[in-house]
Amino acid sequence: MARVAIVTGGTRGIGRAISETLRDAGIKVAANYAGNEEKAKAFTNETGIPSYKFDVSDFDACQKACEQIAKEVGPVDIVVNNAGITRDGTLQRMSAEDWQAVIDTNLGGCFNMAKACFAGMRERGFGRIVNIGSINGQAGQYGQVNYAAAKSGIHGFTKALAQEGARFNITCNAIAPGYIDTDMVAAVPANVLEKIVAKIPIGRLGHADEIARGVLFLVSDDATFVTGSTMSINGGQHMY
Ligand code: CAA
Repeated sequence: MARVAIVTGGTRGIGRAISETLRDAGIKVAANYAGNEEKAKAFTNETGIPSYKFDVSDFDACQKACEQIAKEVGPVDIVVNNAGITRDGTLQRMSAEDWQAVIDTNLGGCFNMAKACFAGMRERGFGRIVNIGSINGQAGQYGQVNYAAAKSGIHGFTKALAQEGARFNITCNAIAPGYIDTDMVAAVPANVLEKIVAKIPIGRLGHADEIARGVLFLVSDDATFVTGSTMSINGGQHMY
């Protein structure tokens, strides 16, 4: 029977590529989104992938939505925690709201979604959780204390949950994308982005499908012994 996946932030950017790549591999996908209803409707029309509006930073909303998805699409086997936001600015200028929003969405969202789906995965003896971290969680980034802290937190969260899930055949892994040609990266001032791209050995921004193929590997039967790992996909910008 086809596996069922939820991809948070799954209608745009990297998330859209993940949704489509998993669908193309025969997985039944439910794509979450938080914002633009019109764009999400267009996504569903174009791809045939149902989209579900809820805020991943809202614990109760995640519980409700995952129950609804389990009823409408099927019990959830795969969670891809991809939803993320930026509120860049130096510490000096960053508001407490901008700190909290990024922590709650990017890191809190991983907790909320895992909480909503982990018990069912345990019962069925199968689960795949993939968390989208970031090069900036590994290496830090000027102007991103909130984002770097949240993404770094995701990498720790991944390793801890991998240990808890292992005996139930639930793997938990992370991908740490570098700079990918999405709207999020397009929002970085051009002069700043130019300097960043100059430091990427492969010499260009990544493409969303280059991340999606990593996700597909981690949820596939080729990755049964892979858990607690972080796959860096960054064009060589950061190696360790
Ligand atoms: N290291 C050291 N100094 C730096 C620096 C760096 N990386 N970047 C900027 N500075 C310095 C500048 O040279 C400048 O110094 P002077 O005043 O002496 O000239 C000073 O810091 C202020 O720089 P800005 O003019 O850029 O300041 P700003 O307040 O207008 O903007 C900022 C600050 C919002 C952080 C802006 O620099 C910025 O947007 N940076 C990009 C941050 C970034 O990479 N975000 C990634 C978003 S994409 C993403 O997050 C996806 C992912 O996972 C990869």
